[in-house]
Amino acid sequence: TWTAANIVEEQVAAIRELVGNKHVICGLSGGVDSAVAGALVQRAIGDQLTCVFVDHGLLRKGEAEQVEQDFVAATGVELKVVDASKQFLDALAGVTDPERKRKIIGAEFITSFEQAAREIVLAKSGGSGSADESVEFLVQGTLYPDVVESGGGEGAANIKSHHNVGGLPDDLQFKLIEPLRTLFKDEVRAVGEQLGLPRGMVWRHPFPGPGLAIRIVGAVDHERLAILREADAIVRAEVTAAGLDDEIWQFPVVLLADVRSVGVQGDGRTYGHPIVLRPVSSEDAMTADWSRLPYELLERISSKITNGVREVNRVVLDLTSKPPATIEWE
Ligand code: XMP
Repeated sequence: TWTAANIVEEQVAAIRELVGNKHVICGLSGGVDSAVAGALVQRAIGDQLTCVFVDHGLLRKGEAEQVEQDFVAATGVELKVVDASKQFLDALAGVTDPERKRKIIGAEFITSFEQAAREIVLAKSGGSGSADESVEFLVQGTLYPDVVESGGGEGAANIKSHHNVGGLPDDLQFKLIEPLRTLFKDEVRAVGEQLGLPRGMVWRHPFPGPGLAIRIVGAVDHERLAILREADAIVRAEVTAAGLDDEIWQFPVVLLADVRSVGVQGDGRTYGHPIVLRPVSSEDAMTADWSRLPYELLERISSKITNGVREVNRVVLDLTSKPPATIEWE
């Protein structure tokens, strides 16, 4: 019978058998898949695993801390944090095209991850480490739907090894460990709970890899990120307080950074930015409908954002389904 406990037990045995006394690297993104995959491998082989968290500075409020503090506390994992936010912001300076943003973020990510991986390989092979204990594996949080989608139908194999990890150079190649290859998202969450991971990670809504960079319509900079991060944190807190997290598939909060509109606060005229609320319901993100949220909740969100975030003087609601719109604005 399927239980999260059985999955953990099975995977732990399989990972131990596969890895032997080699070392393993796992990249954490802040999302549920990489967190659960990493925690499973940690359960199996303890300090033979090193996790890498590239902080690109584009996560939401509290998410980097969730990885660096709560995840580490829950798992005891050895974590290497790369604070790359300055490199990412420099590379993104002045860029407004959504696809260029994605390309830049992807390339910066590989650069940061590659450097961290090299340092780990060097550390493990230097000193007392013998060739037997070299770093040979990379963990990936691939889920069953990804396996099916990429045509790798033989999803029964829990662990697939193959070389040529996308984006990494030839001299830095690893075999893959994909302990979530047979699981659906809800099963991954159950395994995450079984492993005692932070609730905020286990139940996080889908969040794009390029993060807040594609929720700022316009160029990305430190100040704009700070505005969006505050507004987004207000939205998340209010939705959670209203008990509606499970009703909503995803709730992008978008800053129209190049748009200004006139407002009035106290005696003064303001010329601030609009924030767009984009709550959607969906099954698989291929199609989506806008969420009919209670007016009281929308009102609370609007007044808290305009009272709490000085640069924002207008909050608008996106009433478009997908298609014709996409879920994200970029
Ligand atoms: P759209 O906006 O295309 O989004 O309706 C569908 C789903 O994909 C997510 N998304 C991304 N995820 N990198 C990601 O990892 C991306 O560049 C990206 N763009 C969109 C989006 O949040 C939604 O869940």
